[in-house]
Amino acid sequence: MLMSQTKVFWPNLSADKVLNGTVKSWVFIALLGQWLFASYIFVLYAMPVLVGAPELVSTLSPTTGMKKDIGGDLNVLFAHILPAIIMALSGLLQLFPAIRQRFPVFHRWNGRLFFVLGVAGAFTGMYLTWVAGLRLSDIGALGISLNGMLIPIFIALAWYTAVTKRFAAHQRFAIHSFILVNGVWFFRLYLMGWYVINQGPNGNTQHIDGPADIAISFLCYLAPMLLAELVFYAKRSRYAKIKWSVTAFAAAGLVFTIIGVAATGMMMWWPRIDAVFGAL
Ligand code: HEM
Repeated sequence: MLMSQTKVFWPNLSADKVLNGTVKSWVFIALLGQWLFASYIFVLYAMPVLVGAPELVSTLSPTTGMKKDIGGDLNVLFAHILPAIIMALSGLLQLFPAIRQRFPVFHRWNGRLFFVLGVAGAFTGMYLTWVAGLRLSDIGALGISLNGMLIPIFIALAWYTAVTKRFAAHQRFAIHSFILVNGVWFFRLYLMGWYVINQGPNGNTQHIDGPADIAISFLCYLAPMLLAELVFYAKRSRYAKIKWSVTAFAAAGLVFTIIGVAATGMMMWWPRIDAVFGAL
């Protein structure tokens, strides 16, 4: 069936429109989730230090590194965590076509900043995991380590294709870079979403090395990357069945993201934001 025949239900509703609407809805929900994440990091890690109550960070942070004496590596941990505020605030703006077209200079500089901070985050993350030893378990750290190796590769590809003006390829690599840099954000969403759907842990352990934890630590970036590729494929395809099938997957991804943002916001981020404000 050709694209012109993809209209079903009523004349104005085509698979392309529904797919675009699903992707735009995902971007909207993701923006809420990203800004909530940025607020959480700012309030939990930056604000207590700025107002002279750094002990709140070690009391309230879920990380192991903030709780034990890790000497100079504490600076690396802060240097790893704080730039995530900027990346979560402005990274997603790169995906808005209107911003790209109307503010190309902003798009270029914001992109460079995101790429530099993303690569730095991958390196400091690898250092913290494998040199400073901040990991709950070796096997549990494998997913995030592959994530850390893929970040510089995809960012290099996104940067190279931008400089050489191959914009279709650039868009594709940039979206994968965005997903990979946000692996840590997706991980929390998927983990909390999994807890909500299962009404508690199911295949999870305290050390994040249960079968579900391991699967989520890889799927948190591989699943959105696969879905992004499917969306690109569906947009190019002339077949309605393909477009509608991918739209169904994208809609499932959207629902899971909504559950994840709500669950992570309510169970992980908001209680800590509230606790910092309560203690100040
Ligand atoms: C550039 C992408 C990344 C960003 C934006 C990022 C962001 C963060 C944030 C916000 C935290 C604090 C978590 C919280 O309070 O819930 C954190 C902790 C941490 N991240 Fe990353 N991260 C990234 C990549 C990585 C990678 C690739 C690794 C390892 C290979 C890694 C290893 C760690 C470690 C070890 C901690 C501290 C865990 C602990 O002390 O228990 N991160 N990261």
